[in-house]
Parts: sequence; structure tokens; C-alpha cells
Amino acid sequence: MVKIIMHGCCGHMGQVISDLVAKDANAEIVAGIDIADKGNTTYPVFTEIKACQTEADVVIDFSSAKAADALLDFCVERNLPVVLCTTGLSEEQLAKVEETAKKIPVLKSANMSLGINTLLKLIQDAAKVLATAGFDMEIVERHHRLKVDAPSGTALALADSLNEAMDNQYHYVYDRSQKREMRDDKEIGISAVRGGTIVGDHEVIFAGPDEVIEFKHTAYSKAVFGKGAVEAAKFLAGKPAGRYDMADVIEG
Ligand SMILES: NC(=O)c1ccc[n+]([C@@H]2O[C@H](COP(=O)([O-])OP(=O)(O)OC[C@H]3O[C@@H](n4cnc5c(N)ncnc54)[C@H](O)[C@@H]3O)[C@@H](O)[C@H]2O)c1
Repeated sequence: MVKIIMHGCCGHMGQVISDLVAKDANAEIVAGIDIADKGNTTYPVFTEIKACQTEADVVIDFSSAKAADALLDFCVERNLPVVLCTTGLSEEQLAKVEETAKKIPVLKSANMSLGINTLLKLIQDAAKVLATAGFDMEIVERHHRLKVDAPSGTALALADSLNEAMDNQYHYVYDRSQKREMRDDKEIGISAVRGGTIVGDHEVIFAGPDEVIEFKHTAYSKAVFGKGAVEAAKFLAGKPAGRYDMADVIEG
């Protein structure tokens, strides 16, 4: 039985994970941490991270980038593996994640779904053929109106995957409104749409002369992320310190 501390337990994803774990015979949430205890959990909730001394095997985090530094310090102090799912971390925080992974196991993924993690690989094969042949690469993502960071962490991960396949020769463009000039050969345009209750759509477009190939992933419910996060938590518990991602979980 894997004992989980849920960080951000009262939020949307915290609740999705709580429902999934309640039906899972091999996992249990032993405590939650959230700055706002909304009374929507069946386990104890700590509104101050340092007050949580509950024994556990792993932490799952879906909260806010503002919480990341204190969370990483807490996990190092308690020697707890952490599945970091919060997006929108700053450059300094990303560097802190890498430092932290030298002391404890850290699994960070901007998107916990099996589909997106498969897509990350597929588009590398496509880029090697199509971008090399002169196709332009563009990403369009769509999310619900409440999402505060843009572009999505997943869109950036898709761009990084394309760029990595092309020996990191590309740069990213988020806004073309300030310049009146044609696109550069080595740019990846990333556009963000926000509205309604869209769970998460990502399109990777390869646009070439007279033909276009598009890869599209649609998340119909947040459960796809929750399922991946619980699998990641089970995988990470008991692992040695290091930096892990969803590819490690999928490959087992
Ligand atoms: N990696 C993925 O697959 C994936 C999927 C969905 C969402 N996300 C990301 O997860 C994060 C949370 O998403 P959500 O939809 O659950 O958001 P949400 O706003 O519904 O929930 C966030 C929760 O975190 C709590 N919180 C805020 N600051 C905190 C702090 N300092 N300490 C402790 N708790 C704090 C809030 O009170 C809230 O209950 C976002 O960054 C989102 O982009 C990642």
C-alpha cells in the first residue's frame, strides 16, 4: 500500500486524485496540504506545510507555482519522493527542481496523460523527416477560462520535444502582433486559446508546401492526468534520488 500526501488536495486535480485513490486497493491518501481547507476531503488537511508530519511514501503535487519552493524544501527535509504536476514554474524554480533531484526522487511532467507522453515521441519522428524537408512547425493549445499560465506546460513540452529532435536549433514565438515580418525558418509558433471548460487540447501542425500534417490530442476529462499521477506516485515510491519523467513510468 503506497501512502500518499496530496499537495493541493482541495483543488480540482486534488479532488480527482482523491476519488481515484479511494477506489484503489494499492494506494491511500494519508494527509492533504492546501492553503484553503474547503472541507472536501476524508483525510486530515494541513493549511501550513510545515505542520504536516504524517508518515508517507510519496507526495503528489497539483497546486500553484507559488507553492513550489516550500514544497521542494519540505520533501528534502522529510526525504519524500515528489510527483510534481504543477505547471508555470519559473526558470529559478526549474533550476531548484534539478538541484532537489540530486537529493530525493523527483518526477516532473507538464502532462501526466499516456496520450501526450506517446505524442511527445511520435512528433520527434515526424519532425526529423518533415522539418528537415522544410515544413514549418506550429503548436496550438486550448484550455478552460480559469487556467492562469500560458502557453500550457504541455505546449512547451511539445515544443521542447520538437526542438530536441532538431538538435535544439529552434526558438519559440508566442506573439506575432508586435512585428510585421514573415516567420523565421527556425521558429516554433505557440498559440494559446482560453475559454469555457475545455479540459485541454493540443495540436502540433507540420505545414509544408502544399500539404499539412496535424497531430491532435484531446483530454475529455481531468481523470487522464489523475490516473497518470497515481501511477507515477506508485512508481516513484522507494526509488533512488534522481530526475524522472512519465517516459520512465510508461517504460516501467
Ligand atoms: N501535469 C499535468 O498533467 C496537469 C494536469 C492538470 C493540471 N495541472 C496543473 O496543476 C495545477 C493545479 O491545477 P488545478 O486545476 O487542480 O488547480 P486548482 O486551482 O483547482 O487547485 C489548486 C489547489 O492548490 C491550492 N494551493 C494554492 N496555493 C497553495 C500553496 N501555496 N500551498 C498549498 N496549496 C496551495 C489551492 O488552494 C487549490 O485548492 C496547475 O498548475 C495546473 O496547470 C497539471
